Amino acid sequence: MTEGVRGAAGAAAIVLAAGAGTRMKSKRPKVAHEVLGRPLVRWVVEAAREAGVERVVAVVGHQREQVEPLVADVEVVVQHERKGTADAVAAAAEALAGFEGSVAVLSGDCPLITAGTIEALVAAREEGGCACVVLTMEMADPFGYGRIIRGADGGVERIVEQKDATPEEAAVAECNSGFYCFDAKALFEGLAQVGNDNAQGEFYLTDVLEICRRAGGKVAALRAADPAECLGVNSRAQLAEAQALMRDRINGRHLAAGVTLYDPATTWIGPDVKLAADVAVLPNTMLMGATSVGEDSVVGPNSRLTDTRVGAGCTVDETVAVQAVLEDGATAGPRAYLRPGAHLMAGAKAGTHVEIKKSTIGPGSKVPHLSYIGDATIGRGVNIGAGSITCNYDGHAKHATVVGDGAFVGSDTMMVAPVSIGEGAVVAAASCITRDVSADALAVARARQTEIEGWAAKRRKVSAGE
Ligand code: UD1
Ligand code: CA
Repeated sequence: MTEGVRGAAGAAAIVLAAGAGTRMKSKRPKVAHEVLGRPLVRWVVEAAREAGVERVVAVVGHQREQVEPLVADVEVVVQHERKGTADAVAAAAEALAGFEGSVAVLSGDCPLITAGTIEALVAAREEGGCACVVLTMEMADPFGYGRIIRGADGGVERIVEQKDATPEEAAVAECNSGFYCFDAKALFEGLAQVGNDNAQGEFYLTDVLEICRRAGGKVAALRAADPAECLGVNSRAQLAEAQALMRDRINGRHLAAGVTLYDPATTWIGPDVKLAADVAVLPNTMLMGATSVGEDSVVGPNSRLTDTRVGAGCTVDETVAVQAVLEDGATAGPRAYLRPGAHLMAGAKAGTHVEIKKSTIGPGSKVPHLSYIGDATIGRGVNIGAGSITCNYDGHAKHATVVGDGAFVGSDTMMVAPVSIGEGAVVAAASCITRDVSADALAVARARQTEIEGWAAKRRKVSAGE
């Protein structure tokens, strides 16, 4: 949000991730739900990291066995009972005992927060000498958020939760984002004085602001330049909203870097995906995980690539690929399924209705139509005819198929593994290959054609009653 502010080095961050998230109506903890493949809490931890925060403490509790692995790289403390946000922050008190300076408190359910905003919050507190700075935003529909109640002098007096608000207070548009930067001492002293005499019987972190002010501390608000950063995910509808906002943010970055997106609204690109300039992504496409695409490649429409590396000048049309590699100039689809370990070398082709698993297709080799290739090593310049498959599974174990450079495998060939076809060999169409084929040989493994002269004409006469 704010460019050019100094990093938040020296500050600590507490990420709240212990809540149940009942409004999600899910068997999974809320903060484990994903936006573009990354869990909500992870987005917040990454933003804190990027801001340069020195120590990150995650507060876990509800279904913590599912949340802890998501924050394994930071300090973790446990809130044993869900007694409210103040109680959650208090769970980090021991871990941060003796810590002095800025403590940013970050909601683990707000994935759109940026490093720049965390830095701005820390800078605002330190430059203003404040006990607390709260990030606020104007919401067209503020329902559900805490409202910022300002005093006659315009300063922040207190925050009132939706369920405790009078109609006049509920009419206030300025909302609490759930992001704060506190002075460590003011925070932990204030927490000890928070009560739970409110509509929800919870210990509200928001009460600490009023406590700080009463104790003579300065409490200020920093208005978020972009309220979207503060979107809290409490329901599936808000999760969908966050997905769309994040999609737009990421797509905007790729567009600015020289990537063509035909239809940004139906293009979903994960945060760790790398696209070179002059890549074109066609509609209805998802690029997820550690996927990367090299320059001049065209991906889509209707494609989903996960953890897949695509080189330069490739065409990937209506394709699903998972942990696959396409070297420069390779083509896939329309309607190819590249499963883990599929490796198309330079200029290789996996064509229409072709499934490839754990196999290398050598440079310039083609598997153009209706094939299944599994556990195979196919050399350079090989042609695999339409409908040919590797019979790699005998019901107990998987077996390998090897096809040598320059071999020609006719249509509808069954390669019953383990089996190898030598370099330059030709396999006649409709063969069932059960034994190794020598280099440069012709293998024919099918029933010989027979012919009965006049048979069809005779049948026609019989059915005509002649
Ligand atoms: C909170 C704020 C509200 C603000 C809103 C912004 C309070 C009392 N209210 O409300 O003013 O407008 O965020 O999104 O703070 N959590 C715990 N332990 C608990 C309770 C919550 O760790 O006992 C965590 C949750 O996992 C979540 C965060 O704290 O990540 C916020 O809790 P949530 O229940 O979503 O608070 P809101 O009702 O949204
Ligand atoms: Ca919330």
